[in-house]
Amino acid sequence: MEQNLTEPKKRIFSGVQPSGNITLGNYLGAIKNWVSLQDDYECIFAMMDLHTITVRQTPAELRKRTLELLALYIACGIDPQKSTLFIQSHNSAHAELAWVLNCYTYMGELQRMTQFKDKSSRHADNINAGLFTYPVLMASDILLYQTDLVPVGKDQMQHIEICRDVAQRFNGLYGDVFKIPEGLLVKSGAKVMSLTEPTKKMSKSDPNPKAFISMMDDFNVIAKKIKSAVTDSEGVIEFRPEDDAKAGINNLLTIMAAMTGSTPETVAKDFEGQGYGTFKGAVADAVVEAIRPIREEYDRIIKDKAYLQSIYTSGAENAYRIAQRTLKKVYKKVGFIIE
Ligand code: TRP
Repeated sequence: MEQNLTEPKKRIFSGVQPSGNITLGNYLGAIKNWVSLQDDYECIFAMMDLHTITVRQTPAELRKRTLELLALYIACGIDPQKSTLFIQSHNSAHAELAWVLNCYTYMGELQRMTQFKDKSSRHADNINAGLFTYPVLMASDILLYQTDLVPVGKDQMQHIEICRDVAQRFNGLYGDVFKIPEGLLVKSGAKVMSLTEPTKKMSKSDPNPKAFISMMDDFNVIAKKIKSAVTDSEGVIEFRPEDDAKAGINNLLTIMAAMTGSTPETVAKDFEGQGYGTFKGAVADAVVEAIRPIREEYDRIIKDKAYLQSIYTSGAENAYRIAQRTLKKVYKKVGFIIE
């Protein structure tokens, strides 16, 4: 009885596509923050493999990366005892709800999406319908679990908006079927920029491997990439976030701050008057030392295929059970015969 007095935990859903090597940007901007959400929320994190095939993949690579992503989540501190971890394609409800919601989403809404415009210009030879309806699948991911909060980066906020619009439209027609989720911009989440073009976000699909730090890179490669990061010729360590000419130094200060739990301004003070070479060396050391324990965990976990399988199997069972409740409700509302 007393248990009913405490509020149930709010639910969080988020995911990453197993489309490339997870970068330092993904870690500092997303996964690291998820770890700290686990105690206060009921968390569900998925490997979004259905989304990944909107861009052509090598099948063996996709399989490998999906498992690597799971091992990395765990190595970073996502605890399968606390949070649900599963592979999106293992829960058929995602594709099923996406079909229904496709019929409640307008072409015009999807045409406005910046990610669609961006990806179709980068993959002009493969502008497929899946790429176009990607936001509908993402809305389904979120809505199936009656999610309260979706921790994402700024670039994903437009997807949260369309998810809310579609959910509200559906609820307007059929009553309260979906909880209306909110995006959660994690304040402490650092936005890490490309090391070669520091005005662009660090991306795991950047064709230039020097632009990003992969969580899988050798430690000496990581150090080398940081030491050759693009900076400027001013030679002054100062945090000037509005000044694009300073983007390289701003980025290294941001990375260093995230590594040491400090602020870019404080880091800049600490290194005032020092040369870029010294500063870069310190950043490289800090990054390597932060990644080292994660990598040791990762190397251990990735070898244990049976363990990984047990995690994603029980994760999928849990995800399926929760999702079916929503899917059944939706099917009933739209007029499908359910049993
Ligand atoms: N679109 C997200 C990205 O590229 C990945 C994603 C798919 C996602 N479905 C989601 C994130 C649901 C949060 C919730 O980063």
